[in-house]
Amino acid sequence: MDLFPRNFLWGGAIAANQVEGAWREDGKGVSTSDMQPQGVFGPVVERQPGDSYIKDIAIDFYHRYPQDIALFAEMGFTCLRLSIAWTRIFPDGDEEQPNEAGLAYYDRLLDELARYGIQPLITLSHYDMPWALVKNYGGWGNRQLIALFERYARTLFIRYQQKVKLWLTFNEINMSLHAPLTGLGLEGQPDKTAVYQAIHHQMVASARAVKACHEIIPDGRIGNMLLGGLTYPLSAKPDDVLAALQENRRWLFFGDVQVRGRYPGYMLRYFREQGIRLHITEEDNAALQHSVDFISFSYYMSGCATADKKKAQTLRGNILSMIPNPHLTSSEWGWQIDPIGLRILLNMLWDRYQKPLFIVENGLGARDKLEAGNVINDDYRIRYLNDHLIQIREALQDGVEVMGYTSWGPVDLVSASKAEFSKRYGFIYVDQNEQGNGSLERYRKKSFHWYRDVISSRGATLQR
Ligand code: BG6
Repeated sequence: MDLFPRNFLWGGAIAANQVEGAWREDGKGVSTSDMQPQGVFGPVVERQPGDSYIKDIAIDFYHRYPQDIALFAEMGFTCLRLSIAWTRIFPDGDEEQPNEAGLAYYDRLLDELARYGIQPLITLSHYDMPWALVKNYGGWGNRQLIALFERYARTLFIRYQQKVKLWLTFNEINMSLHAPLTGLGLEGQPDKTAVYQAIHHQMVASARAVKACHEIIPDGRIGNMLLGGLTYPLSAKPDDVLAALQENRRWLFFGDVQVRGRYPGYMLRYFREQGIRLHITEEDNAALQHSVDFISFSYYMSGCATADKKKAQTLRGNILSMIPNPHLTSSEWGWQIDPIGLRILLNMLWDRYQKPLFIVENGLGARDKLEAGNVINDDYRIRYLNDHLIQIREALQDGVEVMGYTSWGPVDLVSASKAEFSKRYGFIYVDQNEQGNGSLERYRKKSFHWYRDVISSRGATLQR
């Protein structure tokens, strides 16, 4: 049996706003995530004194990180993907000086990871940005955010240059097409021009962060982060095949710009036909030349596309609203499970870009049952992860360069889309319910022991 490479990074991925809690501690500012306490697809809530929401405490990782990191180390993690909350460093996003208490917090956290030899992979912005930038600047619609983001990124690179060598710019940058407030800080129902202009600013900011990282941390590597929205044609009809090509290009466009440094022809055609005119400067074009070192992505599911308008109306209510594939089964939340799709996606991205790939999110959201003795028999999760890891190994055999794998939510956390707690992803169970009641105690699930064995055997324990 082929083993995973020795330098393959193994671990898990978390995001500040889904684990930390402590939403106003140590000078933290209010973020877009704080203003959408019911999740990415929930409303903006004007908070009243005394209001409290599940994300305000989340799993209290802000205070309990030593315990969680010790558990990650017990599983043999060599990598932890985490995000920094922009609002802990620049509470309103436009201060001249960073908040020292916020910087010091992440210093302590990074030192704890170093104690166990766990390499951090840091996302600069994972589904949160200072709310003040939305209110006072109009979010990413405003070109000034490029410079404000660059200041934030440079502050982190300078401060943590000895401690962090792997970075990501924006989480699932293509999600902004589906959630413009979370992704771009655009309120209301922005039109296509407003959305793509804001996306342009964000991609320039991402490229400027790449440049800054290369200047400040010469031995560092920085990647982009895409939601891998793999789409198949619903049938072999050429019209459906074309529909799938176009659907895939809706998200690959982001990778094309971040890797190749220019807008692809198919996108220029789309802008022309839609009457979208973007304001792009020569300076922007120069910045975009700073290509990412590697490509990271999330992968949970695949979907289908068709040119048949009648069938297209059978859209499902999952994050990407894809058309279901009749050959696949789904999770409890209706996300279609497709391990082979991960091999296809890895090969597709490798063929297209020839840059190292990193799977930085993958996992199964499910309801777990806490049994007597604090036991959780999550065989369904083991099966899901096992089958996806097998396909990564296949892709490695295909010659794809894969840097590592960080499964989503190694410890249970608050879900992003609807801020649910009953949808759990972890190897570690957190005693907390949907109403925010629980001891927050941590328990090892069956998958905890399984993942530890997979890592220590470099995949030899995976089952075909
Ligand atoms: C990705 C996000 O979209 O999917 C994560 O990067 C998110 O933040 C994950 O948690 C799973 O989605 P959900 O809605 O089940 O939390």
